[in-house]
Order: sequence, then C-alpha cells, then structure tokens
Amino acid sequence: MTEHRFLRALRREPVDCTPVWIMRQAGRYLPEYRATRARAGSFVNLCKTPELACEVTLQPIARYRLDAAILFSDILTIPDAMGLGLTVNEGEGPRFARTVNSRADIEALGVPDPETDLRYVMDAVRLIRRELHERVPLIGFAGSPWTLACYMIEGQGSSSFARPKALAWDDAATMHRLLDVVARSVARYLAAQAAAGAQALMLFDTWGGLLPPDLFREFSLRYMTQIAQMLQSDNVARTLPLILFSKGANGHLEALADTGCAALGLDWTIGLAEARARVGSRVALQGNIDPAVLLARPETIRAEVGKTLDSFGPHPGHVFNLGHGITPEIDPAHLGVLIDAVHDLSARRT
Ligand code: CP3
Repeated sequence: MTEHRFLRALRREPVDCTPVWIMRQAGRYLPEYRATRARAGSFVNLCKTPELACEVTLQPIARYRLDAAILFSDILTIPDAMGLGLTVNEGEGPRFARTVNSRADIEALGVPDPETDLRYVMDAVRLIRRELHERVPLIGFAGSPWTLACYMIEGQGSSSFARPKALAWDDAATMHRLLDVVARSVARYLAAQAAAGAQALMLFDTWGGLLPPDLFREFSLRYMTQIAQMLQSDNVARTLPLILFSKGANGHLEALADTGCAALGLDWTIGLAEARARVGSRVALQGNIDPAVLLARPETIRAEVGKTLDSFGPHPGHVFNLGHGITPEIDPAHLGVLIDAVHDLSARRT
C-alpha cells in the first residue's frame, strides 16, 4: 500500500493534494458527538470507555473527507493516572480534585504504566486502528510537560497560569523535578500509543507561549526536546513522525525545528510563508487558518483557504489545519466547505 498523503506530507514528500485534519475534529460542534457524550454520562467517562472513544473518533471521518483521525482522549489523562482525579463539567472545563503544591507532592508522583494505569487509552487506540480499516492514519497525542504542569499546579484552566510561573522563578529545582517525571511519563505514554497502533504523534504545548523566552527554553522546549530524544530510542516510536504544537511561541520556531521533530503546528498569528522562510524545509508545517474563519460565509472560507495554500506555496510538506481547535458554535456544514476547498484548490495547483 502506498502511504497516505497525510504521512507523505509529514515526511515532506510530494502529494496529489494537501492533506487536512482539524484539531478537536471530534467535538461539541457535531450533534452526533453531543449524543454520544450524553450516553457516556460525562466527558471523562467518554474518554475512559474505549468503544465510545472509538465511536466519536470515527464520527468526523464518516462525515467529512478528512485525511487523518485523532485519538479521542485528553492531555489530562496522565495527571489523572498519577492520582490527581480529573473531572470535566459542562461549561467549566477541566478540574483536578488534588493539585501539586509542594516538593513532597511532587516526590510522591510516579510514572504511570500505560498498559495498566492508562489501559483504556491503549485499548481505544487498538480498537480505532481496527475500525479505521486503513482508511486514514491515526494520530496519537499527549500534552507537553510544561502544559501538564500548568494544570497540575493550578488544578484547573487559567488565562495566565501565574502559579506555575511563580514556582519556576522561585524554586526552579522543584519545577524541574516535576517536569522531569512528567516528561518521562509522556515519552512512555507516546511510545505505548505507537506500539498500540498510532501512526503519527503530536505534542500539545498549549501554554508554552505564556512563558518569557528564557523560561520557555528552560521549562518547555528543553522537555519537549527530551521527549523527542526518548522517542528516538524506542524501536516503534522512532519510525513515527512527531508534530510539535507550541501555541503562541512563534519566537522559537527555529529552536522547535531543531528538536528532531518532523513537523511544527502553527497558530494563526504567523503567515506560513514567513514561518517557512525561517525554518526552511527541515520540517513540515501544519496549520494554520484562524478558527474564527469558520464563522464566515462559505465563499469567504474558500477564499481564505486559497490564501493559506498560496502562503505556503508549491512545496512539499504542508498539512492543512486550523491554528487551534474548532469551537462548539461552528456550523458543521462550514467545516465541510473548508475541507473540500483544501483538496480542490490544492489539487489544481499541482
Ligand atoms: O482533537 C481532537 O479531536 C482529539 C481530542 C482532544 C480533546 N482534547 C478532546 C476534548 C484533544 C487532542 C485534546 C487536547 C487538549 N485538552 C489540550 C491541548 C489542545 C488545545 O486545545 O490547546 C488541552 C489544553 C486540553 C485540556 C482541556 N480538555 C480543556 C482546556 C478542555 C475544555 C475545553 C472547552 O472548550 O471547554 C478539555 C475538555 C475537552 N477535551 C473537550 C473535548 C472535546 C470538551 C469537553 C466536552 O465535550 O464536554
């Protein structure tokens, strides 16, 4: 079988048209997702029931001509498996029953065993691969150590994550200790997803961009680099492309491209032409249309897709995506317009 265009694009090989997938493609904008979540009783139950996680992973694949499936789960499964107790209530976002406040709390944390403590994720990966029948590749993922540490310390979402930052400034050694155990957990978890059947891996560093440049290098970039290296020493994971998405960290694109990853995910605050001029062709680029474009009229969506494709230009190595996750109020028909425009307009250019 020749490789799917999504994997070819990540390897910067020529493709018939630009592949596209969407962050949060299985989510609340889809009525079928809301129905399955209601049956599950809660978001966390949905994640923890492999049959239902598989069902929602496949929903957007059935509806649209997407080029990749992403495992339905959450980045917060690791801290949950470390004993923090995750709940996600409607309209409130994620919340932990226990937070990490002291050196003693951090020293008590262990690296979860993916096949026991996170068995439900590995079972979901195996089931999804079976049910996909090679239609499109499956992406596995995890949160970056910095982003996970933000939630573990804060206990919930925040617009500033001031508490984890204060710890990084006040007691760097303790913060490093936390990031080290989380990084080892993430690397093991991603390697287990690869062994279970994931075909590409992505690290979400959603809150990396909150850090000043020196702290970004010391507390975020360093641990993502460590994970990339740990994956290189794993027999299966080393063969999978790794995508790094550091939101709001455009100042660090060159350094991110030097981590050994295959691709960089980009938010919408930088043009693809500028990003490519800075990192050259050593990595593929994934992104990066503003998610709010999906609120605009179909003709506008199509025109903006055309501009994004033009901005990348006629080179190999582009995977189309939004610059962040799709939001709940989007009309599902508008996403169909975007996906069809990506295929249609990019095929005409080659
Ligand atoms: O992309 C996909 O379709 C795969 C599934 C996925 C989810 N979360 C499902 C989800 C992925 C890849 C994530 C990653 C994730 N989770 C990130 C990194 C990506 C990003 O968006 O920056 C972060 C920061 C989290 C933590 C998290 N989980 C938040 C902030 C929320 C609340 C989001 C909101 O808009 O309310 C969640 C819950 C969550 N994770 C939902 C979904 C579909 C919505 C909850 C629900 O359905 O009730």
